Amino acid sequence: MTAIEIIRKKRDGVALAPEEIKFIVNNFTSGKIPDYQFAAFLMAVYLKGMTKGETSALTNTMLYSGKVIDLSSIPGFKVDKHSTGGVGDKTSLILAPLVALAGLNVPMISGRALGHTGGTLDKLESIPGFNVNLNLTQYKSVIKKHGCVMIGQTPDIAPADKVIYALRDVTSTVESIPLITASIMSKKLAEGIDGLVLDVKTGSGAFMKKYEDAKALADSMFNTAVSFNKKVAVLITSMNQPLGTHIGNLLEVKESVEVLSGADVPDLNYVTFMLAGAMLYLGGKAGSIEEGAEMIKNLTGKRAVEKFAAMVKAQGGDPNYITDLRNHPKAKYRVEVKAGESGYIKAIDTFSIGIASNSLGAGRLTKEDKVDPLAGIVFYPKIGDYVTSGQVIAVLHTNNKKSIKSAEETVLSSFSFSTKKQKKDKLLVEVIQ
Ligand code: URA
Repeated sequence: MTAIEIIRKKRDGVALAPEEIKFIVNNFTSGKIPDYQFAAFLMAVYLKGMTKGETSALTNTMLYSGKVIDLSSIPGFKVDKHSTGGVGDKTSLILAPLVALAGLNVPMISGRALGHTGGTLDKLESIPGFNVNLNLTQYKSVIKKHGCVMIGQTPDIAPADKVIYALRDVTSTVESIPLITASIMSKKLAEGIDGLVLDVKTGSGAFMKKYEDAKALADSMFNTAVSFNKKVAVLITSMNQPLGTHIGNLLEVKESVEVLSGADVPDLNYVTFMLAGAMLYLGGKAGSIEEGAEMIKNLTGKRAVEKFAAMVKAQGGDPNYITDLRNHPKAKYRVEVKAGESGYIKAIDTFSIGIASNSLGAGRLTKEDKVDPLAGIVFYPKIGDYVTSGQVIAVLHTNNKKSIKSAEETVLSSFSFSTKKQKKDKLLVEVIQ
């Protein structure tokens, strides 16, 4: 076997054997195959795709480049949820304590903000003291005691992904279904889970804007999970508008706690409860996703907030940020944005809203940037709503005065209005189970 042969085969659209995939990946990650050859391989995969079997073999090689956590000493079903990312997508913070309350284990290894989207780790770190860098012993201990834990990727989880991702990033090969599948699934399968719920976003604020692309990714991740004997459900959900009303790190923690307490934020609650319902369904606690969603809804209230606070405390965070939202500090500048025209909202450019929130300080413009935990946007309107000129549609939160004007312009230009009544956005597009 040689790298040249394997690249040629892939270039010509021939399916590779698992040993060939293992050979090229392992020799690249150990430094025996140079970047230029692996870059050619990645581009061949990008252009020719991979079969189900090849995608599964690539996932397997990347998964076993590191440790697979063994949670067998912890009784009960272990289930996680992964989202492909969105704006205002805070479902993890809400569903982890609720699913733990329902009696399943939720061992979550999450990521940081990527592009225009927020990241669970950045949100959690807006709670003073919260430690996302637990070692595996601490990780197991928190899950054992509280039923849920949320940490960042450790260096021994799928290390091949890190090096491959860095090369994809600079060779225009990120947007490849098999490469995304292997990247996400190798990290998720390393968590020691029995089941996985995938939330594949589609729409103006998603990475996969077109339904066809979201569906292809959903099918690919579903098939890969099945090939590893995991219980899996995929929900394709809409990211045509921000989820809930709060965008930004501590702002999203606040809205999450409100929902845990029982507040009704219709779109956020629906998507979160369906995802959590799917987790209960996979774990055998509910007969269907809908039944699970109803069970989850009934678990909101004081106990749910206490469960989240207990996990936060166990990870070094200040539980008073969860039990009393009046403890949250606020950004120095809070600026209302008022609609410049009247009409029914036809569409929202959610990608731009995410970018505007980042520019206020909620995200990173360079890898080294620090996020501002207090920055973000409270964004009220939903597709189908009628807005009157002069109505407050958003409040910008920032500590950086210079960023306000352009964020305001972006928010105002993110709407398409119509004089005719518009249908509400369909939140759940498809379920694959
Ligand atoms: N997120 C990942 O972890 N990997 C990808 O390839 C894309 C998104």
